[in-house]
Amino acid sequence: MAEYDAIVLGAGAAGLMCAATAGQMGRHVLLVDHAEAPGKKILISGGGRCNFTNVHAKAENYLSANLHFAKSALGRYRPQDFIDLVDRYGIAWHEKTLGQLFCDGSARQIVDLLLEECQAGGVTLLLGHPASAIDHADGRFRVTIDGQAHTAPALVLATGGPSIPKMGATGFAYDVARQFGLSVVQPRPALVPFTLGDDEVLFRELSGISSEVEVRWNKVKFREAALFTHRGLSGPAMLQISSYWQHRTPIGVNFLPDRGADWLLTEKREHPRMQFATVLSRGLPDRLAAALGERLALAGELGNLSDKALRAAEARLRDWQFAPNGTEGYAKAEVTAGGISTADLSSQTMEVKRTPGLYAIGEAVDVTGWLGGYNFQWAWASGRAAGQAI
Ligand code: FDA
Repeated sequence: MAEYDAIVLGAGAAGLMCAATAGQMGRHVLLVDHAEAPGKKILISGGGRCNFTNVHAKAENYLSANLHFAKSALGRYRPQDFIDLVDRYGIAWHEKTLGQLFCDGSARQIVDLLLEECQAGGVTLLLGHPASAIDHADGRFRVTIDGQAHTAPALVLATGGPSIPKMGATGFAYDVARQFGLSVVQPRPALVPFTLGDDEVLFRELSGISSEVEVRWNKVKFREAALFTHRGLSGPAMLQISSYWQHRTPIGVNFLPDRGADWLLTEKREHPRMQFATVLSRGLPDRLAAALGERLALAGELGNLSDKALRAAEARLRDWQFAPNGTEGYAKAEVTAGGISTADLSSQTMEVKRTPGLYAIGEAVDVTGWLGGYNFQWAWASGRAAGQAI
């Protein structure tokens, strides 16, 4: 039987940070993953360049049943703390847009950094073996891995959520959580493309076309690019709103986020001989303009179209209603929203209130970030908080 101060299950972003932190504080840590290599999602993140943080990351950029929960950990480990770590390793980075920081080189540099940090903390890494059984008795957790028992007074659940199962993602953390009587907020795919039904087939024919939009669902809005796909809608704007969206509800898309009010009437006054289709294509990609024009059923010179018809057309272009019939699900979801309820956890340490020594961090917890480096920042911050506490 091997004995440790802490066993961390899951060598992803949160587990690596947690193990390195605890190890460097003198704890004897075992870090376990059923995959053959650590940090697989880090490697594919940000198109291979890892959007490792967002300089604007605050609790407001996260979804959770308790919107205050993430404040403490995010406040104690800030984007600048991770940037300092990246700088210490001499990893070059750049800001792409909206505070999103990416490696200039490769996401591999972030995994190597975390592994070196683990090594500096003397962390024992055990890869390629799932944990088959977890017991808790006499203040110690006993984890059976490949037939061998490992025990520790602290156990950290860092096995993420079930998004992208083909990469080895599982709902294992939820099973363990339920075993210990914790609540799990209904998990659902998030940051995921929408699928459209047959009545919106016209838009599926625009596959590959992207346009800057403002997308709305209830009171939530995002201003980013939308991408039409052969199955529906994707692109950053759609991924962002998908995390909030509820089934059988419409989303509203403003295709004219940069145009002032009464744009079409102004164009009519200034260019009465211009064709309606030409005006649209001045503000939108040609094929999208043609498809929207067809749906609006307006054609001819602006001067021949009534103000009422132009006002109605503009109102539609500013609030085009799509009714997605679903999403592409866990197979394409960048993250899983929902997860282990924050009500059962300490926001300071991520420890389960009723079961001292048990911790949950990262995506396994009901804290889900926006697209743009927010999810890694949560993984670092929650991993750090638990690592310091064990
Ligand atoms: P993570 O999923 O990273 O790690 C969990 C680990 O547990 C895995 O190594 C897994 O193998 C292991 N595991 C699972 N079940 C197990 C079991 N039963 N036994 C043992 N081990 C088990 N975020 C961001 O901020 N910037 C970005 O650029 C991107 N880009 C991106 C691209 C793509 C394609 C995806 C899918 C996701 C992103 N993300 C992202 C999201 C980000 O990858 C995600 O939020 C973090 O990896 C979550 O970190 P965790 O450590 O919590 O889980």
